[in-house]
Amino acid sequence: MSFEVEVERILPGGMGLAHAAGKTVFVSLAAPGDRLRVRVDREQGNVLFASIEEIITPSPLRIEPPCPYFGRCGGCDFQQLTYEAQLAAKAEMIRDCLHRIAGFENIPDFSVTPSPNEWRYRMRATWQIDREQQAIGYYERGSRRVCDVADCAILLPELQAELEHVRRTEWSCFPADLQHLDVAGGENGSSFAPGFSEFRRNELRMTVRGEVYRYNAQTFFQANPALLGPLIDAALSDASGETAIDLYSGVGLFTLPLLRRFRSVMAVESNPTAVRFARWNLKDAGFDAASVNLENVADWLNSVSTRVDFILLDPPRVGAESAVIKRILDLHPLRISYVSCDPATLARDLKKLVAGGYLVQSLAAFDLFPQTHHVETVVHLRR
Ligand SMILES: C[S@@+](CC[C@H](N)C(=O)[O-])C[C@H]1O[C@@H](n2cnc3c(N)ncnc32)[C@H](O)[C@@H]1O
Repeated sequence: MSFEVEVERILPGGMGLAHAAGKTVFVSLAAPGDRLRVRVDREQGNVLFASIEEIITPSPLRIEPPCPYFGRCGGCDFQQLTYEAQLAAKAEMIRDCLHRIAGFENIPDFSVTPSPNEWRYRMRATWQIDREQQAIGYYERGSRRVCDVADCAILLPELQAELEHVRRTEWSCFPADLQHLDVAGGENGSSFAPGFSEFRRNELRMTVRGEVYRYNAQTFFQANPALLGPLIDAALSDASGETAIDLYSGVGLFTLPLLRRFRSVMAVESNPTAVRFARWNLKDAGFDAASVNLENVADWLNSVSTRVDFILLDPPRVGAESAVIKRILDLHPLRISYVSCDPATLARDLKKLVAGGYLVQSLAAFDLFPQTHHVETVVHLRR
């Protein structure tokens, strides 16, 4: 089935919203204002999920996607938009979630801080490997087929060079069961997980705002190094005091600067490798007695009863578990800083924090992921 639609706006999740014959239509890879002929891929309740068959009248915000894999590769879904339109769409997605999911009427003014590099910015990636098809790249859109990618335009040049190196490697050198390869870059080279032949699980280093962080491809580290300083500044703002907690702390990106401002900081992280690096990072910076807890955040919070001035949480995309939000409310910190990579789960959790007596003070957003619909948001709350 195919029909004509006009795209109204971009929704959280990155799809274009349109209406036709009493149905809501979600169109992938669309631009607001596009007049399109679309084909329905699937139907779910009153929503039709559709893809573009023909661009009848292109939106003024539409550009020719420069990457030859765009549309097939599942990695980027915003290359059809001018960079300004990408930023505007991300701001609208955040507002939409805060309004629709959290029920906020008055959303503080904010804009999305652009990435200094719109291309060649990513310093981590997961490359899918299909030995049978001899393909290395990313999953195709909506499929588990591997799109064979020779040049990924959002990778840092150092990582693109590593992709070419991996692609030049004899298939016989790859571990027989290798299905994907995590890669990360740093100031001192690259790291791979799992490591094999010359692709090693090296320890990496990155300096941000004068702090030195070590990590490797097995640990989380933010993907866009050019915005790390501004992200840390926004997450901490002018926070200072006696006691702070850093939840979902990774290798200590926020723990280290928090230790410069608070007398005592407790960090919590469930990945053992990340905890090992965090302890090392803190020790190297002179914080011998700093506490990094290798635990699930919800479990660890059950054992805490200290008075807390400031809680920073930076959960994965699924957001914080209900039990985590409940325990944060029980601990009653003066201020909370929520760093999120998913506006929808952020809005769900903020709703509970606000119902628990907190006020949203400020909001900032950062385009850590140009050419995709993803966006990083920082929200400060106060009781
Ligand atoms: C978005 S990352 C943030 C890491 C760090 N704040 C940073 O910016 O580098 C989320 C981190 O939470 C950890 N994590 C995920 N679920 C967790 C849980 N239930 N308890 C503790 N840590 C968890 C992951 O291993 C990951 O390091």
